Amino acid sequence: NRGVLVDRFGRKHTSLRVSVTDRCNLRCTYCMPADTPDYCERDSILTFEEITRVVRIAAGLGVDDVRLTGGEPLVRSQLYKLVRAIGNVAGVKKVSLTTNAILLADQLSQLHAAGLRSVNISLDALDEASFFEVTRRPGMQRVLDAIDACRAMDVKVKVNAIAMKHFTERQIAAFGEFTRATDIPVRFIEFMPLDADGNWDDSRVLAGKRILDLFAQRVGVLSPKGEPSVSPAIDYTFEDGVGTIGIIASVTQPFCSTCNRFRLTADGQLRNCLFGGDSGDLRALLRDGSSDEAIADRIVSAVMAKKRGHGTDDLSFDRPSRPMYSIGG
Ligand code: GTP
Ligand code: 5AD
Ligand code: SF4
Repeated sequence: NRGVLVDRFGRKHTSLRVSVTDRCNLRCTYCMPADTPDYCERDSILTFEEITRVVRIAAGLGVDDVRLTGGEPLVRSQLYKLVRAIGNVAGVKKVSLTTNAILLADQLSQLHAAGLRSVNISLDALDEASFFEVTRRPGMQRVLDAIDACRAMDVKVKVNAIAMKHFTERQIAAFGEFTRATDIPVRFIEFMPLDADGNWDDSRVLAGKRILDLFAQRVGVLSPKGEPSVSPAIDYTFEDGVGTIGIIASVTQPFCSTCNRFRLTADGQLRNCLFGGDSGDLRALLRDGSSDEAIADRIVSAVMAKKRGHGTDDLSFDRPSRPMYSIGG
């Protein structure tokens, strides 16, 4: 079973999402608790050396795409060193980053020098008041400055925006203008039951289909771009082909049947899915002198244990045991 991580449903797992910290400098309502989060103990967090070892072993099993997430990955100091180390692992074709970009402008030249060429930036609103309403912190201008810095350095940007009822409806026109002016894709992610405070319910999900309707009413009709994609987003464009709106309909149209990803949490637990529980303790193996073989076996077992899908759409699913910031976005 070496070389390819194919699960019981025939899905080949080539994408590893590594959370480098559960800490974050924002407090988004759909992810973090309002009061002080219950962060992991510092010494339970994997070191860069430990993470790089896992990536090397996973690359031996066919992983070629590594995305760094958090919490907020850029609060981990000298993240560029990890970007470089992972980029140097044989078999890894792409290292990317999902970030809120508050600290990105400061670190961009080091990250670029370390090989980073693409970032997905979370930005839920384009005015400071709405940004604060959802993140409970100021900082929108810093995010916009980071986006400009990326464009100047040829670092590819995609924007991720939450799709939450009673909030996202008000952001549609501004995001339409934004993607048409910058050509940066904006992808709306349906609110998933991964918020720390447990306030999710299906009446708060702004469905992808509804977003398409809102664009049609307020900006212009969207049609599928029709480009084949392994990403969970389906991309659309306006009639004149200017701008890209992506829909990540994780709740109303789950994409589990083509899922190619698994995760490593900041504290070294494998997760074969955002939902369900942890699916293998790698930290213990990394710290008790276990061989690469033993670690590879645990990765294979985690993938083989993966369920067909998350089942949030039939409402009989298990609410995840950890919120998003603690799993990795
Ligand atoms: P690209 O390769 O650039 O398309 O990346 P991506 O869309 O996989 O990465 P990104 O981190 O930007 O993910 C966007 C959002 O999609 C995440 O923040 C999650 O909310 C959601 N998402 C990512 N992976 C999964 C997944 O495996 N399952 C579900 N249900 N949602 C996911
Ligand atoms: N539902 C959907 N997306 C979420 N994210 C965080 N929590 C949730 C949730 N409950 C997204 C953020 C960010 C990425 C890291 O995860 O918007 O883009
Ligand atoms: Fe994959 Fe689980 Fe996400 Fe579905 S919910 S796409 S199976 S990680």
